[in-house]
Amino acid sequence: MEEQAKQAISSVFSTSVNSLFRVGEGAYGSVYCANFSAPPFRAAVKVFRGNGDMAKEKLWYSALEKAGVKLPQIYSSYGDNCLIMEYICGVNASKPPSGCNFARIGKQAAADIVKLHSCRGTGYGVISDKGDLEGGRYSSWRECYKNIASRQYLKIENAARAGLFSKDVPLLLENVFLRFDNIFDEPQYPALIHGDLNAENIMINSGAYLCMIDPINTMWGDPEYELFQLSENGGARYALIENYAALRPLSPNYPLKSACYAAFAEAEWYADIGRAQDALLNRFMANLVLALDKYFS
Ligand SMILES: Nc1ncnc2c1ncn2[C@@H]1O[C@H](COP(=O)(O)OP(=O)(O)O)[C@@H](O)[C@H]1O
Ligand SMILES: [Mg+2]
Repeated sequence: MEEQAKQAISSVFSTSVNSLFRVGEGAYGSVYCANFSAPPFRAAVKVFRGNGDMAKEKLWYSALEKAGVKLPQIYSSYGDNCLIMEYICGVNASKPPSGCNFARIGKQAAADIVKLHSCRGTGYGVISDKGDLEGGRYSSWRECYKNIASRQYLKIENAARAGLFSKDVPLLLENVFLRFDNIFDEPQYPALIHGDLNAENIMINSGAYLCMIDPINTMWGDPEYELFQLSENGGARYALIENYAALRPLSPNYPLKSACYAAFAEAEWYADIGRAQDALLNRFMANLVLALDKYFS
């Protein structure tokens, strides 16, 4: 992977790499910071393992660019699996530096997320090719989300059958389908959704919000679809949801909708990575039980 990152830089900037450091690593591949002797002198190279993952991330970045939010500049791609972008001199918000100004960063980041969600599409749905950059294929969010949730449910049911989760997990989620039209309202418009907006994908320094990174399954949806992620991975310290709500009031049944979005998305993620039910997943399930009780008792 390191070799690929070096080759990518040499080819795109016609210069050899002076030094290379790994700054991120996950199941997808690795991110490197490369230094070299030609402008812009430094870049981040994300090297993907999976086929097609780089092209998708590049497409999702181009969707976010339409919203005018803060992003690393995408310099180029190389081969099938290297994305070369501006190196952001900071850390992700899950690892705040000492003296971190949580209040200031929280306000700035929330304002940028509101800006993202004010970008309107012509319909709801996933962005899977260039034809989706103006909007998705669905005219209704309920129809679009029912499709998403149904697919998630099948995976979750299979994971429960395989013994990864208790049968109570899919049983609980069935309640959501029974009350679907009472829980989910139609948002005012299809909003641009980053897809993985947790603290690890928000770059900061000690005094400022810098940008968002790492879009996954970027789509046109209910703007409230991804808000639950803002408090994950240490995000709560920045009061992102409170700051967001001050700029863009939440809908009356936000707590219930959000508990549903979170329970389905988290259980799907566990099923995808083969992680067994644990305290974290139980927290999302318990939160959904409480929200359903509150609204339907
Ligand atoms: N352009 C960049 N500049 C500086 N650091 C980055 C950049 N892109 C990613 N990183 C760092 O690498 C980590 C992983 O990158 P990311 O794109 O979020 O991949 P993933 O979450 O899929 O592992 C980030 O949390 C961040 O700390
Ligand atoms: Mg990430």
